[in-house]
Amino acid sequence: MYPLGTLRIDELSDEERAVYATLKPERLPEHVAIIMDGNGRWANHRLLKRFVGHQQGAKSVQLVTETASRIGLPWLTLYAFSLENNLRRPRAEVNFLMRLLKAYLESNLARMMDNNVRIQSIGRVHELPPEVQDKMRWAEEATARNTGTTLTLALNYGGRSEIVDAFRSLAAEMECKHLSPDRITEEDIHRHLYTAHMPDPDLLIRTSGEMRLSNYLLWQVAYTEIFVTDRFWPDFRGVHLLEAIADYQRRERRFGGLGEGCGEVEENPDRIKIVVG
Ligand code: FPP
Repeated sequence: MYPLGTLRIDELSDEERAVYATLKPERLPEHVAIIMDGNGRWANHRLLKRFVGHQQGAKSVQLVTETASRIGLPWLTLYAFSLENNLRRPRAEVNFLMRLLKAYLESNLARMMDNNVRIQSIGRVHELPPEVQDKMRWAEEATARNTGTTLTLALNYGGRSEIVDAFRSLAAEMECKHLSPDRITEEDIHRHLYTAHMPDPDLLIRTSGEMRLSNYLLWQVAYTEIFVTDRFWPDFRGVHLLEAIADYQRRERRFGGLGEGCGEVEENPDRIKIVVG
């Protein structure tokens, strides 16, 4: 659960504090994942170039991360750059996103330290330009001893390729240990995912209205609650994170079991005659 002493509620804005006051502290999510969408549309609506939307999106990343750290959220995982973005976007936009990521890490490191945030990454980061990998490693090392929120950036990430990578490393382990495939369990697959060290997300937020998973954390979101907002990512702030958490707390999570108000359970179902059709 939450490490003690990490709450900094007094640093929330008045607006954030009003929403936070409606939350049940004992039912806060441990892990929130976000699909940050709508940078391009945000810019388009203002007759601006797409890159301005991405720049504004980077500001939202910092503000939302700081709110997460103030409420003591242990894990925040952001979809910052997908494998598909890398393959399908114009080179100029990909290059801009790489430069933006480097600049973001450089200029926000001090704020990450002030907020006790630990930065990590998941994805095929080794395929990114060497200078981006270096900057990411630099930020990871500098923040490694921080004990507050872990901000994980999914970079050159795809859910299916993560599962392929997990199967490759699990197959290698099985070969080495001479294990037969029928011994594979869900836990084995979990151990080989990029996210083996974190709990599955409790809440997945997607901005700008699309009802898709877009190849994000496919294995991990099996029982995750999904919250979609029409708001574009560059307009998304800490208060909206808190509103999404409030919505999450109104839901009943059943993990395939029975919830409250599920109706009466038959004591002896063998007695019931089954009629179909
Ligand atoms: C979607 O907007 C967003 C992305 C391509 C990835 C998210 C990138 C950022 C928030 C910017 C920088 C991030 C960091 C960590 C510094 P879109 O271009 O797909 O929007 P659209 O669907 O409206 O075109």
